[in-house]
Amino acid sequence: MPYQAPRGTHDILPSEIYRWQAAEQAFLRLVTQYGYREIRTPIFEDTELFVRTSGDTSEVVTKQMYSFKDKGDRDLTLKPEGTAPVMRAYLEHRLAGDGQPVRLCYVATPVFRYERPQKGRYRQHHQLGCELIGVASPEADAEIIEIAVRTYQALGIGSLQVKLNSIGRAATREAYREALLAHAQPVLKDMDPEDRARAERNPLRMLDSKDPVMIEALQKAPKVLDYLEPESKSTFDSLCSILAEAEIPFVISPEIVRGLDYYTDTVFEVHSTALGAQTALCGGGRYDGLLKALGGPPTPSVGFGMGLERALLVQESQGALPTEPQVAAFLIAADEAGRARLRSLAAELRTTGLAATYDMDGRSLKAQIKLADRIGAQYAVILGETEIAEQTATVKELLSGNQTVIPQSQLAQYLAKEDS
Ligand code: HAM
Repeated sequence: MPYQAPRGTHDILPSEIYRWQAAEQAFLRLVTQYGYREIRTPIFEDTELFVRTSGDTSEVVTKQMYSFKDKGDRDLTLKPEGTAPVMRAYLEHRLAGDGQPVRLCYVATPVFRYERPQKGRYRQHHQLGCELIGVASPEADAEIIEIAVRTYQALGIGSLQVKLNSIGRAATREAYREALLAHAQPVLKDMDPEDRARAERNPLRMLDSKDPVMIEALQKAPKVLDYLEPESKSTFDSLCSILAEAEIPFVISPEIVRGLDYYTDTVFEVHSTALGAQTALCGGGRYDGLLKALGGPPTPSVGFGMGLERALLVQESQGALPTEPQVAAFLIAADEAGRARLRSLAAELRTTGLAATYDMDGRSLKAQIKLADRIGAQYAVILGETEIAEQTATVKELLSGNQTVIPQSQLAQYLAKEDS
């Protein structure tokens, strides 16, 4: 094969696209019920947008960005996450102009990260996400978590775990960093200097570590929840009560600190056993300082992003596939007289919203029926000599082989009824 899709990227083929479309539509239907409106931002942005918000010690910025200079010498980066672009657009277009809150969502936005590809981890993936801008109340955090959970339910995915934590504000994190560094000293002194320097610059990253030695060493580490200031603590407690009241199961998980720097207070992830303990299906939280970092007014905001590929993997592993839409009618003509009628009949069926197609290569009757089967049509609609003379059609249901003769004038009605 001379050319292949770049490593870590995938073509989404016609045989699988219906699952993407079904998931995207289910998500959009759901979030519309909560008042979210879709926004689409460019595929690349100024590099600085991500450095400022995700943080210059985050893995995403230090190792994973697809950055390049364009012919005008601008520093640009393919979107490595969805939140900063949405907030940039929110500021640029003064979306708060009509008042807050502003509820925005994105549907299958492409996201690029230079990661080692493996199952569920790609260099281009796609996210469904929601950002609720302008509400400080924990009711907003609860709404975001509820939508994430309900999205998976809408996709037929069960057995999920919502992992919840709070990482507090600047003062909490300062004190906690010190405590964590002190606790990790015995491991840090044996680490290679580069990893050690990275851990010292941002000790919270150690909690994200996949290194078994580090995981073991941090088992008895101090918990960030014990360092929360009173306001953060009370927000977290209220959030837990609201979620319990809404019967959304969650576990408090001190190891969830998230890999991007913009979070404050609430952070959460949704996990599935189908993808392994380390791999999140969805991640999100509150980011009250992000807009200010972009030069806007301080604006409390909360949101999530979920990997669509990962959701579809779990959906498949749980056997919750949606049904693939079929071409309703494959029209078949026995001779030239039939062909002219076949074209006009296909046009009539399409005006009623039905899908109809036919052979254009002069195949034999038998070969046309074979083709109808191959494209997965529901019905073969046969126009033979008798049918043309009597203005009828023989309708053969391909799965059962049952066939019946219908007046052409009633064909659309018949197929639509059988289809529903
Ligand atoms: P994130 O946790 O970096 O958060 O990514 C969100 C989700 O995207 C992950 O839980 C995962 O399902 C999926 N994902 C991430 N990287 C990959 C990859 N390489 N391959 C496949 N799927 C992947 C964010 O991006 C934040 N912007 C979420 C957010 C929105 N926070 C607030 N609002």
